[in-house]
Amino acid sequence: MTAAAGAHAIPDVLAVRDLKKSYGDVHVLDGIDLDVAPDEVLAVLGPSGCGKSTLLRLLAGLEPVDAGEIRIGDEEVGGPSPDRPMVAQGATLFPWLSLRGNLEWGPRATGHADPAAAADELLEATALTGFADVRPGQLSGGMRQRAAIAQVLANRPPVLLLDEPFGALDAQTRLRMHEWLRGLLAERPTTVVLVTHDVDEALLLGDRLALLSARPSHVVERIDVPFGAERARSTLSDPGFVALKARVLDLVLSA
Ligand SMILES: Nc1ncnc2c1ncn2[C@@H]1O[C@H](COP(=O)(O)OP(=O)(O)OP(=O)(O)O)[C@@H](O)[C@H]1O
Ligand SMILES: [Mg+2]
Repeated sequence: MTAAAGAHAIPDVLAVRDLKKSYGDVHVLDGIDLDVAPDEVLAVLGPSGCGKSTLLRLLAGLEPVDAGEIRIGDEEVGGPSPDRPMVAQGATLFPWLSLRGNLEWGPRATGHADPAAAADELLEATALTGFADVRPGQLSGGMRQRAAIAQVLANRPPVLLLDEPFGALDAQTRLRMHEWLRGLLAERPTTVVLVTHDVDEALLLGDRLALLSARPSHVVERIDVPFGAERARSTLSDPGFVALKARVLDLVLSA
């Protein structure tokens, strides 16, 4: 945490302190500490059922915490906000609206001056301009996920919470989605917490990794990802990437 370092330190945009959450007897989060710097992508990995989606829901303010604190800048998270939307596991668009209708929805709801122009920009960013009038059910899985992410980016939120956004896609489509998301975030710098069980995805998209233990979970390891903005498909065969992936896989399997 840089905030404690002195009066001139820039506070981390997202700070999680000793976060605890249980559902009845199910003790899920056991004191999670995280810091995510402005415009950083933090990839969160951990065994199935350890509480990754729970953590994201708490960050989104969709559920109350049992103990601990979540701060964004100077504000404590106390409820949901369009400033930190979450794309849930298996996210869906509004099935009765066209793609354009889905993308205009957020800007319209928040009083954007020109929702149609905002939607046009997102259609272009997702390379889906030709599908503007199509309903979500007629899009491929990759298109739908691109659109679901674009929908929540419509209002340019400072923080984006992604729960296994590409988990249901085949490996090739997933790689294309990684390149697409990296390009989009380069154009629209955003602080991102990305939950994934795919180590390649974590290393291709994350600036840092946080590895959670099995339930009741805490952060067992934080890893800086040393690959820069030029990461691409070819990075997968880089010896440094292969070595780090092996190390992270070992940590995930023993978490
Ligand atoms: N609303 C709820 N009520 C009761 N138990 C819940 C609720 N939500 C989650 N849990 C429990 O909390 C634990 C963590 O669930 P969560 O979905 O956060 O895990 P996860 O790490 O996202 O798993 P996966 O990798 O499979 O997506 C699980 O044991 C789950 O059954
Ligand atoms: Mg989950």
